[in-house]
Amino acid sequence: MLSGLPRTADPNLLVGFDASDDAAVYRVNDSTALVQTVDFFPPVVDDPYDFGRIAAANALSDVYAMGGEPRLAMNLLAIPSCLGPEVAGAILAGGADKAAEAGAVIAGGHSIEDAEPKYGLCVTGFVHPACILTNAGARPGDLLVLTKPLGAGILTTAAKAGLLEPPALRAVTEQMAALNRAARDAMVPLEPHACTDITGFGLLGHLKELAQGSGLPAELWADRIPVLPQALDLAREGIIPAGAYRNRAFVGEAAQVCGAVPLALTDVLFDPQTSGGLLIAIPEDRGEALLRRLSDQGVCAAAIGRMLPPGGPLIRVN
Ligand code: CO
Ligand code: CO
Ligand code: CO
Repeated sequence: MLSGLPRTADPNLLVGFDASDDAAVYRVNDSTALVQTVDFFPPVVDDPYDFGRIAAANALSDVYAMGGEPRLAMNLLAIPSCLGPEVAGAILAGGADKAAEAGAVIAGGHSIEDAEPKYGLCVTGFVHPACILTNAGARPGDLLVLTKPLGAGILTTAAKAGLLEPPALRAVTEQMAALNRAARDAMVPLEPHACTDITGFGLLGHLKELAQGSGLPAELWADRIPVLPQALDLAREGIIPAGAYRNRAFVGEAAQVCGAVPLALTDVLFDPQTSGGLLIAIPEDRGEALLRRLSDQGVCAAAIGRMLPPGGPLIRVN
């Protein structure tokens, strides 16, 4: 989206605009690189404290997706004056609690008046320059591991229409508010080849970026994809966020979906996620160890496909 901007040539900018990656990475010295990212959006749930937790977890996630550890953050808040200081305070408290859980400190920020609330963080993290995980490193045969079930966009759309019971809303809220920290900590020692997080472009949109970045096709195993309870039923009833149609158009011909894959599951594959899980490409012989480490950390993860040798369509869904 920002590809038309002028570029600055600086050899220390290790990851910038060129790769559609999760964050920029800037080399400070041989052992340290800065990971820099910013993310903010309007409320996905009504409760202001939960909204703050989710927006912060989402912004912090881009640092984890690069293999880094978040350390410093700044608030970005837009709020209508009619909402009053308690609402702003609850949003910021949610963000502060998530940042603290991540081991990052919020050192200020900026707020403006706006008709629609928006919140997020600008986050700075650190990563060893030799351990940066981008979209670009996957190799043929790598397993693809996903660390959160899909369907959050469908469930929050249903909740906005009053179609979701409180326990289901609570469950999807907690999933979106969950940090990708445990997943990052589980994967980094096993030296995966590539990583990204699943957010607005949905699983297939972000997999397209990873496959393009790595210059290799990928295969997804439809029956192994973890999906939140009720998401398939709601998709069958037509409760599908507008972003899923945009994602379908964005992916276009790059994905070939086998005719046996149910339409509702295809909708879930395009469903935009808020604060979704990590998508990790790891050599097959380290895949078992990764799944074990993730499960030990209480992360609900699954191997959902693999990278293929060059040739054929960019993404096959079987
Ligand atoms: Co991201
Ligand atoms: Co982002
Ligand atoms: Co990355």
